[in-house]
Amino acid sequence: MLSGGRGFVLQQPAKVAIIGGGGTVGSSAAFRLAGLGVASEIVLIDARENMARSHAMDLEQAAAELGPTYVRAGTWEDLRDCGVVVLSASLPERNVASRDEYLTGNLGIVREAAGYLAAHCPRAVVIVATNPVDVFTAALARLTGMDERRFLGYSWNDTLRFRWAVARTLGEAVADVGGLVLGEHGEMQVPLFDRITVRSRPVELTQEQQREVEISTRSWFSTYQGLQSGRTSGWTSAVGIARIVEAVTTGRGDPLPGSAVLEGEYGVSGVSLGVPVRLGPGGVAEIIELELTPSQLASFQAAADKVRSLLDSVFRGHWAEQREVR
Ligand code: 2OP
Repeated sequence: MLSGGRGFVLQQPAKVAIIGGGGTVGSSAAFRLAGLGVASEIVLIDARENMARSHAMDLEQAAAELGPTYVRAGTWEDLRDCGVVVLSASLPERNVASRDEYLTGNLGIVREAAGYLAAHCPRAVVIVATNPVDVFTAALARLTGMDERRFLGYSWNDTLRFRWAVARTLGEAVADVGGLVLGEHGEMQVPLFDRITVRSRPVELTQEQQREVEISTRSWFSTYQGLQSGRTSGWTSAVGIARIVEAVTTGRGDPLPGSAVLEGEYGVSGVSLGVPVRLGPGGVAEIIELELTPSQLASFQAAADKVRSLLDSVFRGHWAEQREVR
């Protein structure tokens, strides 16, 4: 068992619930998690009960072969006793240019989830993969009244894609390339070109190489949506979400990138944005403040302004009176 601070002790392995467990990201994450042995039980919760049950019936048998994790379908009531909750529920994928276009459609899902999180598992760590991730991470903290350190927006894919694009440009293996993306999980992401490493040694890309990497990473989402496949990045997200759940439940491992509610770090407050974090049983144990160049800091703060204006829109109008769910 691990202490999560403020008197909370996370059972290890933890009970994990996935809201949206019948979807592409949720079911893929459940499969990956089942193989890691950090969850005693994974409960798939989905508005489409038949999809949650379909994945659970299939995954239960797969998981039995992979490790000690029991997988089943459940309801909101099953959030009770959860150490970790993954929120990946979303409206179906559409051909949109920006994740922000899911804001209005996914608000209802987030609002409903907030009520059940506050009521059933106010001490769980919540990983928010529903887009737009940065907006919903801070919104959930406010709506639930839970400790904001218990929320982490899922933006790990940006850093993996950056490392992948750098590796492709340099003709290296992704595993050998180190890199980090901060900022918005969206078009206003901030790739740190001055911190790229290959086999742990700093490497500088030419302007042309940087442009190539920028184009393939920034346009990844719109290119992918343009396929109109109706599915999202389940495999990549599964790998990253499982890694984050593992870091939360074990309190071990290197810092990971994720969207955390900032309280003055990088000159930003009250907004959630991608930063390096240390994770543990209480959620975000530490936000690491890197020294950014003036241009990186300006881009980061511009992303904060944009996310803040979307966040404000959530709490205006018909949402204003629903600010506190508890
Ligand atoms: C991703 O970046 C779609 O936001 C999701 O993979």
